[in-house]
This record gives sequence, structure tokens and C-alpha cells, in this order.
Amino acid sequence: MRVVVAAADLLDAERLVEIASAHVDGCLYHGDGGVEFAERLVAGGGKVRVPTTLNVGALDLLHPGRVRGGAHHEAMARRQMKAYLALGCEPTWTCAPYQAGHRPRFGEQVAWGESNAVAFANSVLGARTERYGDFLDACCALTARAPLHGLHMAENRVATVVVDASGVPDTLKRRNVFYPVLGTWLGLEVGREVAAIVGLPGDVTEDQLKALGAAGASSGSVSLFHVVGVTPEAPTLEAVTEGRGDVRRIELSAQRLRMALERLSTTAADAVDAVAVGCPHLSPGEFRALARLVRGRRLRVPFYACTGRGVLAQMEATGDAALLAEAGVRIVVDTCVVVTPILPEGGGVLMTCSGKFAHYGPSNTGYDVVYGSLEDCVASAVAGRVVREEAGWSW
Ligand code: F3S
Repeated sequence: MRVVVAAADLLDAERLVEIASAHVDGCLYHGDGGVEFAERLVAGGGKVRVPTTLNVGALDLLHPGRVRGGAHHEAMARRQMKAYLALGCEPTWTCAPYQAGHRPRFGEQVAWGESNAVAFANSVLGARTERYGDFLDACCALTARAPLHGLHMAENRVATVVVDASGVPDTLKRRNVFYPVLGTWLGLEVGREVAAIVGLPGDVTEDQLKALGAAGASSGSVSLFHVVGVTPEAPTLEAVTEGRGDVRRIELSAQRLRMALERLSTTAADAVDAVAVGCPHLSPGEFRALARLVRGRRLRVPFYACTGRGVLAQMEATGDAALLAEAGVRIVVDTCVVVTPILPEGGGVLMTCSGKFAHYGPSNTGYDVVYGSLEDCVASAVAGRVVREEAGWSW
């Protein structure tokens, strides 16, 4: 409680707010201090006071040996994950808790860590959370309180900029590959401001919004966006701008999108050394789409698919997990290839369909990155070189 109150002071929050749930990101091993912090809470008899899911750890507990971090890394990562379980958290080990059954209600106050999950909870579910960094997230879960500030408050959730996507061709807006690019642009251009996006299809999918938020929270600090006519706080533009007529308006042009698209690749190389998908962790629908694309094909380069253990269990039941494994796809759970050493040593070129993997890949893994659609990723893995559908980004 002392940590939560000190954070509230630093944030100029006048009081705390009761929370209904938490999602804790602090279970990822970054150094021994994080282990000692969690174990000290356990030693003091700490127990979370609200339902609390866990983000990824630094080990794939279901596939031992997949992470090559060395003995110290393995021992400490395991201790850290174990300590959070001892605090009463749920062993979800996923960055997409909202697709693992943890879905706060509209307007519910929560304290979530992991930037993509924060963007999703605020934007797609209409719950209210700020971005809770490692360790403050656990303190909120233990006290069932959070500083009342930022996006916990209705006045800070009003859109301050309108992004008009009406001019983007429908054919592009229907493709999944569009959404990480839109998110990347949003993060770079709009950052922490709250955007109201108009002109997206009314049937934009939850996975597309997830990809948008994850990319925006990586390239910028997007924690809340509204899609007018789609997301729950934005039935109309007036509702989400509170009728203000002077809100800045940006038209989404081909030039703006291409700038973001280019940012997602760091090399023009032809060769591909590895492919990674599932950032944020694959949903059942994304997993099935991957299985459909891979069926009957032989992959020439290491191909990693990251997902939550809950989704893996569902996909084992349908046979899709076995199909992927047979084709040579290495399924990673409880963690991912960007937060812990899993990719083959020596670096090279990593292809991905995730804006967030593309953003963090070079600094975290040492690999150059190439961005493409899921279809491009599979085609490239089959061909052993970059195969990309380049059309559709000009109009
Ligand atoms: Fe999840 Fe790893 Fe991406 S934790 S959001 S798959 S960087």
C-alpha cells in the first residue's frame, strides 16, 4: 500500500480507486531484483485481493529447453514465475489475457500491465486502466487499489484528435496487414493523445483491433483509441469528442501509411532466417488461419508461433496444433521470442506480421526485421526468401 500511495503522490492523484481485477506484467525475469521483490511479497504473506492474470514469463514451461538463457536465467525465471503463483495470481502466462477469459466489463476500473493489453482493455472493452509498469501492477493487485489518475477518469478518455480513414481503399482496410501499420502510424503521430478513428469498416475484427493497439502502444504510447461506430465508448463521433467542433483532424493518406509501413522493416535483404508470428499471442482464430495456410506445405526456415497455453489447449483439441507441429512450426507458450532468447543464435533476418515484433525485434533479438502479412510470412518460410504482396498501399 505504501508503494501505491507513493505512486499516487508522484502522479498527482488525489485519491485511490478500487479495482475489480489486475493483469500483472512483473512476472517476466529481467534481473534478480524482480525475483527478490516478488519473493519478499510472498515471504510477507502477500495475496492478491482481486482476480489477477499473469503476463508472459521468461520461460516456456510446457516446452522445456526452448529458451536458451543459461542455468541462472532458467532458475531465476522459474523462481519469479513461481512467486507470482504463490501470491494467488492465475497461471495464464499470456499477453492477450482478454482472449483467455479475462474480460473486464464496460466502465470497470482495473489495473493492467502490458501495453497491448492496456490498449485493448481501454479501447475494445471500454474498461478503465492506466499503463501499470512492473511491480506497481503487483502492488495494485495486492491492495485492490490504484491511483485515480489518467485513463481511470472519464475526462481523460475524450478524443482530442480525429483520424479519418475514409480515403483508404476498402480492399486494404479489409486486410489484416493494414492494422499493425495503422497502429504504428498512430503511435508515431498521435502518441499519448486519444484518437477517434472514423472510416474503418463496421465489422473490423477483434484481432485487427488487437493488432492496431499493440503496434500503437509500441511505436508510441497509445493506451486508448476509439473506433467510431465500433468500440463501446464511441457510438458516434459527437459522443467521444463531447461535441467539440475544434478537434484536430488528420486524414490518413497513402503517404502517411507508407511511412509507417517502411518503418516496420529494417532491411531490404532477400533472405529470411526465421519467421515469428503471434505478437500479441495468437487467438484461436489466428491460430486456425495459420493452420490453414501451413497445411500441406514444407517450411524451410525456423517458424515460431507464440500463443497462450489456454489457446494451445484448444488447438490441441481440434488437431490444429499437431498440424502446425508436423509442418515444422515451433509453438511457443508462456513467453515469446522477443522477450527471451529463443531465436537461433547469430542473428539474421526475422520476418513477422506483427507491428510489435517488428518494432522490438532488432533491439531485443539482434535480428533485422521484414514486415509482411501472415500469408507473406508463410510463403516466405516455404520459399526461404522474402515473398511479399507489395500492392495495395498506393491510391
Ligand atoms: Fe506478447 Fe511478446 Fe508481443 S509478450 S505482446 S508476444 S512482445
